[in-house]
Amino acid sequence: MSVQSKIAPEGAKTTNPKVLAFVEEAKSLFKPEQVMWCDGSKAEYQHLLKTLVDGGTAMWLDPEKRPNSILVRSDPLDVARVEDQTYICSKSKDDAGPTNNWFDPAEMKVTLSKLYDGAMAGRTMYVVPYSMGPVGSPIAGIGVMVTDSAYAVANMHIMTRVGDKVWKALGNSEDFVRGMHTVGYPLSTPTTADVPWPCNKTKYISHFPETREIWSYGSGYGGNALLGKKCHALRIASVKARDEGWMAEHMLILKLTNPEGKSKFIAAAFPSACGKTNLAMLNPTIPGWKAETIGDDICWMKFGADGRLYAINPETGFFGVAPGTSDESNLNAMKTLTANCIYSNVALTDDGDVWWEQMGTTPDHTVDWMRRSWTPASGRPAAHPNARFTAPASQCPVIAKEWEDPKGVPIDAILFGGRRATVVPLVTEALNWLHGTFLGSIMASEKTAAAAGKIGDLRRDPMAMLPFCGYHMGDYFAHWVKMGEKGGAKMPKIFYVNWFRKNDAGKFMWPGYAENSRVLKWIFERCDGTAKAVDTPIGKLPAEGSLDVKGLKVAPDDLKELTHVDKEGWKAELPLIKEHFATFGAKLPKALSDELASLEKRLG
Ligand code: GTP
Ligand code: SPV
Ligand code: MN
Repeated sequence: MSVQSKIAPEGAKTTNPKVLAFVEEAKSLFKPEQVMWCDGSKAEYQHLLKTLVDGGTAMWLDPEKRPNSILVRSDPLDVARVEDQTYICSKSKDDAGPTNNWFDPAEMKVTLSKLYDGAMAGRTMYVVPYSMGPVGSPIAGIGVMVTDSAYAVANMHIMTRVGDKVWKALGNSEDFVRGMHTVGYPLSTPTTADVPWPCNKTKYISHFPETREIWSYGSGYGGNALLGKKCHALRIASVKARDEGWMAEHMLILKLTNPEGKSKFIAAAFPSACGKTNLAMLNPTIPGWKAETIGDDICWMKFGADGRLYAINPETGFFGVAPGTSDESNLNAMKTLTANCIYSNVALTDDGDVWWEQMGTTPDHTVDWMRRSWTPASGRPAAHPNARFTAPASQCPVIAKEWEDPKGVPIDAILFGGRRATVVPLVTEALNWLHGTFLGSIMASEKTAAAAGKIGDLRRDPMAMLPFCGYHMGDYFAHWVKMGEKGGAKMPKIFYVNWFRKNDAGKFMWPGYAENSRVLKWIFERCDGTAKAVDTPIGKLPAEGSLDVKGLKVAPDDLKELTHVDKEGWKAELPLIKEHFATFGAKLPKALSDELASLEKRLG
């Protein structure tokens, strides 16, 4: 019998039996007052904003200053991703590996079903069909999310492609990610009062990689609640990518064009708050060079018919760190933020605009993110350090014309990088894919300024995926090795960059931001085989004179330090790398322990 002949429940825009069964299951668990099937329209978006404002969750900003934009202040106990309460519920504990919290899937479902029971009492359950990537693109993927958070739905509208076109693309396929989300604050009786930011002290961000499910409870903020982002596009997608032979990575994507009009596409993996949004939108300081944005956080790559890796940005918006964003540090982001944005946990100025630390002139008075009166003398930041803006990517003045190309863009180079005050040079080119995979696997980032030579305060964050890999990190490394074997000479070149080197006085030695274009130029020219490099024990470094520093104000000694190999520093790091590798046990690919042995030998 044709499933098409089945009658959809009221409001449903699909007759896909798997979707209908999923929504029915969610409805019987959550027991919402009503169900709303989202269509992704502008009218629906405006309705969501009005709901948030009427309910006291949000307020309108001055329409003259920030048209059609709202400010939202969350509960102080719900301000960021909660890594401790994030779980990978694979059947076998070993599949989650040493870097993830594991929980038995059946047990997790028992626990969460109890919490989910009646959790949406008195609320609306929104059904959100979304596509990660251009609808119908062979690289894209579909998800269906149910949630009781209008804030999450409004964010999903900006960050993903929501709407009826997704049902059409899905048809009767079973290939979609099922996401359930509740803030865990039922309005149990008709008189139970709501609060501006409903959430729950208890939080579970649970992933069931084998069945492609996400069950999220208790938080309404960021990656905990916008299920398309880290939960789907990285944790679940990384598993799907392993199974199907592609890559789901925590990377920005940018297009770089030289003065002759030749373009290359570069992807870069930096840990959270380490500069992806900034690099994705930079304005090059070198005359004639142009950079444009494809994406600022997530990158899905599949092999094209020509054997090269093609990438899409699965998202349609930026959920960016607000503090530190200014006309000086990221003008293109500031220009993206002029209208139609959601601001979370920033400060409110007396004239109805937003403000955050280092945005520009400090106002004499604001209302801080906790709704308290704030002055510069308050001795605390006005915006929460993880305050964020949600902005449509289409509003970015340097968005590349290819950004929605369903076939993706061919990637020429992949960059790894973290915050390293010491040891790691400004830029290193990997000897080959395997060596590049090794460099990615040993990536680390320092949270605070470490004194020169002191390398204790490191958190290893392989490929910037530590909090986002949905399976055993050793198997993830093996997947990288396998992809390299498959792609052979057509794989992107890999580079390791570090904008965060500090001098003895604790100051950044490299000006960073727009000046990073000088490093991008060298990378571009290395891909073309025109820039010169020298072989060193750790990889290829810029040969003297090959890095374009014309007009740059960096002391020659600093430049030397930034581009030379700190042999002793690397030697001191070897035992730490060994310790790091030991955590993956037998799952560490032999190819990577061989790379480590070769590095040790080369260092002498
Ligand atoms: P997530 O959205 O959390 O994944 O972060 P992100 O990687 O996009 O980080 P973002 O671009 O928002 O940068 C965060 C911080 O890094 C800000 O405080 C920036 O000021 C700082 N930053 C970015 N680029 C540079 C740079 O080139 N040099 C220095 N010194 N700081 C930088
Ligand atoms: C990150 O933490 O890497 C982010 C923000 O991009 S969140 O969406 O909360 O994960
Ligand atoms: Mn991120």
